[in-house]
Amino acid sequence: MSFGCHADGGYRTRAHIMCQSRLCHWGSQICEGSVAAPSCFPRWEEAAPYRRRRACSCASSSVLLTEDRHPRDRREVPGRSVRHARRERDDVPRGLDLGALRSVESPAVRWTVHVCYAQPMKIAILGPGGIGSTFAFQLARAGHDVTVIARGARLAHLEREQAIVKKNGERAAVRVQGALDPATEWDLVLVTVLASQVDAVLPALAASAARTIMFMFNTFEPLDRLRDAVGPERAAFGFPAILAWLDDGVLTTRIVTRGPLLTPVSDPAWARVFTAAGIPTVVEPDMQGWLRTHAAFVVPGMIASVRAHERRAGISWSEAMALARASDEGFRLVRQLGDAIVPAAMVTYSRVPTVATAALLWAMSRSPSIRRTGAAGPGESRTLIDMMSAVAPDHTRALLAVRP
Ligand SMILES: NC(=O)c1ccc[n+]([C@@H]2O[C@H](COP(=O)([O-])OP(=O)(O)OC[C@H]3O[C@@H](n4cnc5c(N)ncnc54)[C@H](OP(=O)(O)O)[C@@H]3O)[C@@H](O)[C@H]2O)c1
Repeated sequence: MSFGCHADGGYRTRAHIMCQSRLCHWGSQICEGSVAAPSCFPRWEEAAPYRRRRACSCASSSVLLTEDRHPRDRREVPGRSVRHARRERDDVPRGLDLGALRSVESPAVRWTVHVCYAQPMKIAILGPGGIGSTFAFQLARAGHDVTVIARGARLAHLEREQAIVKKNGERAAVRVQGALDPATEWDLVLVTVLASQVDAVLPALAASAARTIMFMFNTFEPLDRLRDAVGPERAAFGFPAILAWLDDGVLTTRIVTRGPLLTPVSDPAWARVFTAAGIPTVVEPDMQGWLRTHAAFVVPGMIASVRAHERRAGISWSEAMALARASDEGFRLVRQLGDAIVPAAMVTYSRVPTVATAALLWAMSRSPSIRRTGAAGPGESRTLIDMMSAVAPDHTRALLAVRP
């Protein structure tokens, strides 16, 4: 893989570092050759010259600068020394290797530059619908070895194209298979089928030699069942903060890149890889709480979008109120089951008055892109309400009343 770092530095002068990691995909640009420092290190220029640990915004390279001579620097940041740098170097997360170690001299200071960079990963994506295709596209573009496992019309389309094709004409080459090869030691199998479809693939996942199996879809069931099915030591969970769909196999996608609701995953190393691939991802240790909270939040929205899609018109106010009552009930249920409402932004949303939730749903059903997601049909909202009802049959009356 091509990778490089050029640095020249000095006290009171800026260090200029160029990220040449092939995995650098910040701002949809693969940084190669002589891309100027600010585009790979947008915050670098703001940093005082003696601030020494900088990560490229692509997150696929990380640079550690250690100044080991200048007295002023030592005074301002006590305890930070080459020894400290070595300790940090040892903390390089899984999936990142230590690259180069260089010294750069200037009259005032000597910088030691450590560069960490990401390795291309072998990734299978099981279920390349809108979400799986978005991950496949981003990860393949970021330099990873991506195989998509598809079926039916989607498999035929992918076999023809040998690529994920986006509406704007962009393509990312991927390998295509009709079944998960059990012998391959995938670094990651990302499972992006629907919750109602996962049982059919569990035997293949359990038999696979994959190192990590990450489930990424809406669900309300206890995560232990999936964890136990593939082995707790390699199970991971996530959820896409992405809006995506396929039209005749062609992908339209919008990735949430800022705000409080970024893509959460349970595994820090994969959070880094996804972020590096242009899907800003945060680590969420309580994915069960997160997913249950999200189900309570999203089910009324899903039903509103399905109705609006079918009618080509927004929902009525009384429908919006019934859905808002179902939303309140869903959040109450999450608390009753002993799960936390996460992330923090959702705590605020869960306390919004019913009438405000209704207004939001009413307005949302008039948004063309939300309405477009209703084309997926009522299946997933039914599955989620049934899962909620299965764990607490006496506490889901309002939800069952709106079940499509
Ligand atoms: N799309 C979004 O904007 C969005 C946003 C946030 C969250 N999510 C969530 O993310 C999850 C995935 O959503 P999605 O929109 O990508 O769903 P989707 O378009 O239905 O994609 C699922 C894909 O998996 C395939 N599949 C199912 N079983 C398979 C198997 N055994 N072998 C191979 N392929 C298989 C499906 O094929 P078939 O079509 O043949 O069944 C389909 O292509 C859902 O839980 C959804 O709620 C979606």
